This record gives sequence, structure tokens and C-alpha cells, in this order.
Amino acid sequence: MPRNRPQGSNLRCILIEIVVFVITFVVGGSLALYWCSEEKVEEHDVPPTNLVELPDCQCPPFKLMDQDDIRKNTGGQYLRNLQTWDPMIEHNAEYPCWFNIECRAGLGVSSYFTTLFRSNGNPIYINRVVSNRSIFTYQPREIGDFKCAQHTDGSYQWHFHNYPVTDVGFACQADVDSCHCPYVKIDDQSGARVQERFPGALDQCYLYTARCDVHEFSSEDHFPFLSSEDTIINNLAVSHNIFYDDLICIKEDTVFNWYYSNKKLEDVIIKCGSIEEELEKSKVCQCGAFPVINKVEMLAKYKYYQTRRYISANVGKNSWTPSCKFNITCEEGFKGVVFSDNYDPIEFSEIYVTCTFNPLSNDLHMWIVNSVRVINPAGGCFKKR
Ligand SMILES: *[C@@H]1O[C@H](CO)[C@@H](O)[C@H](O)[C@H]1NC(C)=O
Ligand SMILES: *[C@@H]1O[C@H](CO)[C@@H](O)[C@H](O)[C@H]1NC(C)=O
Repeated sequence: MPRNRPQGSNLRCILIEIVVFVITFVVGGSLALYWCSEEKVEEHDVPPTNLVELPDCQCPPFKLMDQDDIRKNTGGQYLRNLQTWDPMIEHNAEYPCWFNIECRAGLGVSSYFTTLFRSNGNPIYINRVVSNRSIFTYQPREIGDFKCAQHTDGSYQWHFHNYPVTDVGFACQADVDSCHCPYVKIDDQSGARVQERFPGALDQCYLYTARCDVHEFSSEDHFPFLSSEDTIINNLAVSHNIFYDDLICIKEDTVFNWYYSNKKLEDVIIKCGSIEEELEKSKVCQCGAFPVINKVEMLAKYKYYQTRRYISANVGKNSWTPSCKFNITCEEGFKGVVFSDNYDPIEFSEIYVTCTFNPLSNDLHMWIVNSVRVINPAGGCFKKR
């Protein structure tokens, strides 16, 4: 049965409605006026100016990254405080997806990096300039094994060493803080000897060429290592003079720290030692060892929070053998996992690994695992869950 309201309350309702209407109008109107005067309406039909399109190339445009973009880039945010400016990207109408890249000195900065950012991994340093001179080869630079290709889903993506890199961006970043970074110790007891690599560069400290004095009483070959709290960088250079082009001093919010690629180092020491027998045995390429994990105990050297998911997992049969280029493939029900000192475990049903030239110098090599650069990797097959 419908309820009839008494006549008197009808008028009250109308009055309340008018009051509510007026309040809404006045408040809404003044808020709108306030916002419109504070903020310009965003213009969505104007494309962002920080994108570089390669006309006729089917791969996505590149982004010129500013500091804010770098702060939001998961793999690259450790570089967020460095002075940043745009590189120049040159392309050629004849080869639609070809390009090269150059960073010029900016605003009183004479030492700087060219860096590639992406959303699915840590940055790759493309070029390093010290005192206005590229330390390896002239700019502009091309990037080795970087190409536009179709991904398995049919989309065109940039590929670095045969695996897609997504949301690719580039930046020039200053490298002028190294004299603020912690002292790099030299263990001369072990035979380590160093020489300043760029003696004229006032903005560079502790960047050495290292070698080992021959031990009179030892028949073993000794090599320099860059050793830190939880990692050992072992650049197996062709000669016995070893250098560390990826070593860069990064200004964190209140302190300065050394990084090797994206790996933060603490208590950095250059020391000499013979290459351990085990390491020597599993050495497969100029990049050094790529141990095959066939028992969980081998995970002990990696950080617990990264390995705890795998410690109770079954280790599968490893029917693959590391070499300079290889695939990790696992039996049914297992997946490949690569552990490293500088990256979270990389899991895929198929993993492509290559030992390749470091863009910073042809005398340096690096492991690349599905387009990600890893330091001291090891891999194995683990039961899927
Ligand atoms: C590098 O080049 C810039 C611009 O030409 C110049 O101002 C600066 O003094 C140079 N720096 C060094 C260390 O030579
Ligand atoms: C790795 O696997 C891919 C895809 O199956 C294949 O094209 C490539 O040749 C393999 N690479 C090596 C070094 O076995």
C-alpha cells in the first residue's frame, strides 16, 4: 500500500530541495572556478615532446628520460639523483630502424655516461666519456645486437641480444662524484698494484688500472679482483692489466656509493688472488663461470630473501651446458631460473644466455640473460609451482 505524505511536508520538501540545489550550485561552482584558475586543462591531443619516433620503423618510439622518469624506472632509479640531459638520436630514412646515439657535454660537465633504460630490467651503459673523451670509441654510438623484431605475440619490439626490451629510453648522465665516494682500498700485501687511469681528469678518483705483482714463490697466476662485501667482480681481461669501466660513484639521497653496473658495492678493495680452482673449472667464456645449479646448497651464496622460494623446491635435471651462447631448457614441469649478484631471480620456461661484449669496452665482457645484464650468474631447473 503506497504511503501518502501529509500535505504540509510537501512544501518542506520543496524548500529543502531548493536549499540543497543552491548549496550544490554555489560550492560546485566556486570549486570549479578555483580548479580552473589553478590548473590548465591538459591537452591530450599534443604528443609528448620527449619521444623520438623513427619514421617507418614498426618498433615503439624511444623516450628521452628526465630525472623524474628515471625515478619511476624500477631498474634505473638508483641513478635518479644524477644530473640528466637529453642525448641526440640520429636515424636514417634508408634503414628505418637504424639509429645511433650521442651525448654531448652539458653545463660544465665533462664526464658522463650514455644510458639505456627500459621497463623490464636494469639500465645498460652504452658509452662513457671522461674529460670530454669517449674512453672506448667515438660517438655517436650504435648498440651491438639491438634490433627491431617481432615478439612471439606478433607485436614489434626492440630486442637486445634476441630478447625484447620494453619502454626503451635514453639519457645522458653526469659522472662527476667519484671523488666524494668512499676510499677504494688497495691490498698491496696480496701484490695488487694500481695506476690512475685518467690522471688528468679532476672529476675522477679511484679509477684504476690494476695488476698483480708476480709472486716469487708461487707458480700460480694471480689476477686482480674488485671485491666488496657481497660480491667479487672478476674482469677476466685479455691482458693482466685490469680495469673497471662499469664502476661509477652514485649520489644517493644523503651519501655517495660505488656501483658496478647496478650492483651497489660496500668496502671496495682491489686485491690479488689466484682464480679459485672451482671457478676456473666452470669458466666457460670470457665472462667467467656460469655454474649449473644441481643442488639447492649452491644457492647459499645468494641473498636469502631472493632464494627462499627455491630452497624447498625440487631441482630438476639440467640437460644444458653453459657456453658463450646457450639456452637453458628444462624437462616438463620445470622452469629455468638464473640467480645473480645484481638482479632478482630470472624465471622463464626458456632462457637465452650469452656472453658478449660490454658496450663500454671491447676488452670487457658481460653475461646477458634474456636481455638482462647479470653479475656472477648461476642457473638451474626448478619445479614449477
Ligand atoms: C669539456 O668541454 C667543454 C665544452 O667544450 C669545456 O667547457 C670544458 O672545459 C671541457 N672540460 C675539460 C676537462 O677539458
Ligand atoms: C635457443 O633457442 C632459440 C629458440 O628456440 C633458437 O632459435 C636458438 O637457436 C637457440 N640458441 C642456441 C644457442 O641454442
